[in-house]
Amino acid sequence: MNPLRTVGARLSLAVLGVVALVLGLVYLIVVPSLKSRLVDARLNDLAHARKALVAEYEQQPNDPDFFSNAAASTNARVILLSVVSQSPTLVAPTQWSLPGRSAKDYTNDPIASLSAKTSQLERGTVSRSDGEFAEVAIPMARSGEVLLLAAPLHDALSDVNQVQRRLLLAGGLALLLALLVGYGAARLFARWIRRLERAADRIAGGRFDEPVEDVSADELGELARAFDRMRIRLAGLDHARREFVANASHELRTPLFSLGGFLELLEDEELDESTRREFLDTMAGQVRRLTKLADDLLDLSKLDAGRLHVETQPVELESLAAAAVNEFAGVARPSEHPLEYTANGAVAGRGDPQRVLQIVRILLENALVHTPPGTPVDVSVRRIDGHAEITVTDGGPGINAEDRAELFERFYRGESTKASGSGLGLAIAKQLAELMGGKIELDTKPGRTVFALVLPAEELTQETEPEREPVTV
Ligand SMILES: Nc1ncnc2c1ncn2[C@@H]1O[C@H](COP(=O)(O)OP(=O)(O)OP(=O)(O)O)[C@@H](O)[C@H]1O
Ligand SMILES: [Mg+2]
Repeated sequence: MNPLRTVGARLSLAVLGVVALVLGLVYLIVVPSLKSRLVDARLNDLAHARKALVAEYEQQPNDPDFFSNAAASTNARVILLSVVSQSPTLVAPTQWSLPGRSAKDYTNDPIASLSAKTSQLERGTVSRSDGEFAEVAIPMARSGEVLLLAAPLHDALSDVNQVQRRLLLAGGLALLLALLVGYGAARLFARWIRRLERAADRIAGGRFDEPVEDVSADELGELARAFDRMRIRLAGLDHARREFVANASHELRTPLFSLGGFLELLEDEELDESTRREFLDTMAGQVRRLTKLADDLLDLSKLDAGRLHVETQPVELESLAAAAVNEFAGVARPSEHPLEYTANGAVAGRGDPQRVLQIVRILLENALVHTPPGTPVDVSVRRIDGHAEITVTDGGPGINAEDRAELFERFYRGESTKASGSGLGLAIAKQLAELMGGKIELDTKPGRTVFALVLPAEELTQETEPEREPVTV
């Protein structure tokens, strides 16, 4: 990876950029304002001193020491200029004594020219060969004469320059520090991220055994904990998937093995007709079992993939339950299960009629298969607490607490009933009920087991009202 494209490099560059921006702004704001404040203060001093100077000069215009005294008291050059056609010429002091500076420097002074032109006090800064000056020019009583006070700004500006230098130095140090801290923090951050990346790769590779650990309380710690929750969940799903495949193949192998055995037996030409018939009946039973298993597995895979579509519409439960009872009457008779439908009046629930029927079939089949012959089985519907229920009640021996805990797990079969089904019926019923916003409830004790499909209730309308008479079986 390009080192400049790493999170670490980007973060440290961002920190560096922000610090540089802040320093630049401070530099651009502080230095000019400091400079203008110092210049203003100097100009104010000069403007303040001018009144006394003008008064003194006008009282004694011929005092030979006036200019040197005034220069000493104001700490500025005090010059009288005569401005003719905007071009100032020196009037006084006649004894020009400033070493290295020419009187000519002042002959074209712009502040003096402006003051002569506007006839009022003017102030400003002027750059000369020997430095920068703060100047105040005052028009005098005699026409065309201007008194100019010019204070060198050398000291003030050297203060500003010093501040400027220190700011630059502090800025450089701050940038260096920002770079170091930013880089260090970014490296630490990147290390954490790489640890998470390795953990993600591990999980993606199917290795769920190593926990993703991070005890920190910040967002990265949260992310690591979320990764670990994901790892645990995926490990569970992976385990369930392996178990499912193992169970499914086992369930498929048993009837296939048995079918293979019967096929070999059927090849025996000396088999009498009744034995051959018996073998064929058993084989048909195994094929039915395989078909049911294939249907159940298909339903489960659709449920897992979220591809099993259920309608949510008003369903009239009474006629639906009665139809299921009719359907199972033929199965119940040989095993001598008295199967009854108890009519309680019309009840409407919300769900998918086909799926509701599928669930009732699963419950009814269980009640007939997992109870001894002669056990009474009863189906009824009712509306209670805003719910619509179809209940399948049997008078069998009941389900023990151990089985109850795992009854709705896939491939789980109660101890006493291991030989019959595949243990998928209740798992499918539960998932289907939940998909319709309902649930399966179980109430069991010796002599009475009740499985109830609970659905959201629906008000009976003309559409859901059954047209025919309630069925009695
Ligand atoms: N009415 C019942 N009375 C007693 N035991 C029951 C009853 N209904 C279910 N069971 C127990 O619950 C277990 C799980 O039922 P489930 O319908 O999921 O599987 P199955 O009936 O064994 O097989 P499948 O329905 O896939 O053919 C059964 O094996 C049985 O032990
Ligand atoms: Mg079953």
